[in-house]
Amino acid sequence: MADYETHHYDVVIIGAGGAGLRAAIEAKSRGLSTALVCKSLLGKAHTVMAEGGVAAAMGNVYPEDNWQVHFRDTMRGGKYLNSWRMAQLHAQEAPDRVYELEAWGALFDRTTDGRITQRDFGGHRYARLAHVGDRTGLELIRTLQQKAVSMDIDVFMECKVLSLLTTADGAVGGAVGYWRASGEIVVFEAKSVVLATGSIGRCFTYTSNSWESTGDGHAMALWAGADVIEMECVQFHPTGMVWPLSVRGLLVTEGVRGDGGALKNSEGRRFMFDYIPEMFRAETAETEQEADAWYEDHANNRRTPDLLPRDEVARAINAEVKAGRGSPHGGVFLDIASRRSPEYIRQRLPSMYHQFMELAGVDITAEPMEVGPTCHYMMGGVRVDPESQAATVPGLFAAGEVAGGMHGANRLGGNSLSDLLVFGRRAGMGAADFAEGTARGDRSGESAIDPAQIDHVVAGAMAPFERDGGENPYDIHRDLQTTMQSLVGIIRTGSELEEALERLGDLRERAAKVSVRGGRAYNPGWNLATDLPSMLTVSTAIAQGALARKESRGGHTRDDYPTADPELGKVNFVQRQTDDRGFLAPIRIGPEPLAEMPQELRELLEEGH
Ligand code: FUM
Repeated sequence: MADYETHHYDVVIIGAGGAGLRAAIEAKSRGLSTALVCKSLLGKAHTVMAEGGVAAAMGNVYPEDNWQVHFRDTMRGGKYLNSWRMAQLHAQEAPDRVYELEAWGALFDRTTDGRITQRDFGGHRYARLAHVGDRTGLELIRTLQQKAVSMDIDVFMECKVLSLLTTADGAVGGAVGYWRASGEIVVFEAKSVVLATGSIGRCFTYTSNSWESTGDGHAMALWAGADVIEMECVQFHPTGMVWPLSVRGLLVTEGVRGDGGALKNSEGRRFMFDYIPEMFRAETAETEQEADAWYEDHANNRRTPDLLPRDEVARAINAEVKAGRGSPHGGVFLDIASRRSPEYIRQRLPSMYHQFMELAGVDITAEPMEVGPTCHYMMGGVRVDPESQAATVPGLFAAGEVAGGMHGANRLGGNSLSDLLVFGRRAGMGAADFAEGTARGDRSGESAIDPAQIDHVVAGAMAPFERDGGENPYDIHRDLQTTMQSLVGIIRTGSELEEALERLGDLRERAAKVSVRGGRAYNPGWNLATDLPSMLTVSTAIAQGALARKESRGGHTRDDYPTADPELGKVNFVQRQTDDRGFLAPIRIGPEPLAEMPQELRELLEEGH
């Protein structure tokens, strides 16, 4: 084996968004040597794009709220495909995680009597989102980062992980990557590894995700032999910017609608009243007067349809645009200007105000915004044990967006920040328990990782420099995004998914022959070439899952199977790679029954608590 820079830790965490930071804090607080590895700069993570708040049933605004209602909302939002145990732990533990954050210095907007205030969001029965203006994710990251730094957790920034490393007994025992600044290889050996790598948005053309979200953790888990579930369930947030093109997809927080903003079509009609699904009819306002009264006083308990769950709103916008009632640039209008005062808008939504003013020249206190769906979140991910977040391969843990199960077929807004706090902590505990108890290999002496494995990964990463006349990685990425956006987007159909899988097969072959020029230091072409394997694996898993799930449920809508199939509502589609050829290996898929829900939780759903 070549002589690589090598680090030894008890726990290595890959990804430094909210989940990674929270996991690191937990592992380090147990006295374990802990490393946090991220391919970007510390503090720059997609977590900041959960702008509107963190969902937790604290009951500060509506004392009627409690974990049972939050559990029910989450399960209904996920169209019952969720891991009920994760949804239960999440609803029960989220308030403590928010108060813990407050104790660590997080700022929150306040009620008049000084408690953390909470705002309305889609699918939540009560105003439940603790927030600071529309910058909640940023505040959460800032607080966790400060805490992690104060604990002297080792941080490896701008370090791109290429692959997990496994030991002779099949457990995960580390990872190999490279420094973006120099291109030099770095190896981490660890007793346990936590994946907290976030999302997959860069597989699509229009996304709220920044360049880091290339599905690295989802893919690396598959390559290491772990199961992933629900990969067909991708969330298109209903409101991304549609204009100017250079920022198409950038998030427009749901907080705009939570604070009174209304969706309108080109005829000025509040079209969401035309799209109320049967499941939500009893509790959704049917007139504008009723909807607006609800904002002031939840007593009538009939929410505005602008705040239906995201899958419903995204589909409605899509339908309006298709019917020719869209805005000039292919979205619809989101109007808060005619509904709230300029002072209120600037105080509650300062980032949105600046975002539209600076990027689009639109003053949202005076004019409506143009918005349309954008790929925002991945519900599917690594199959984990709800209590410990352990994956199906020993030594591997996953938390946050890279883990599957919690959100089922559709996530409610605000549940991502609480998810990453609750399960980031649990993954840190699980990984620490494993590291303390592990007897795998000879940890005090010889490495249990076969050096040939590292050489193999390194050779694959360096190969693009050695090929002449191969394809440009940017062309492959563009074709991948076009394929996913046009054939595996909001509305899917069997024949298009088959075509997507065929095209993805070709793209995998092309990616195996990619070539790049220049040196290794800060080489964006090479960096993209090393991201392509992850994006291709993840895209294939998404398209395969979408073809297998012959029904419409949550974020997964099939034109050719427009309704939910009760039998498919009882299964997860589980995927696993069949050999160790990385992104070139076939992926096997099959249904597996969901865990049986205990009667007392079933009653919560039935009673409509
Ligand atoms: O709209 C938003 O502020 C996003 C929140 C989330 O995805 O949880």
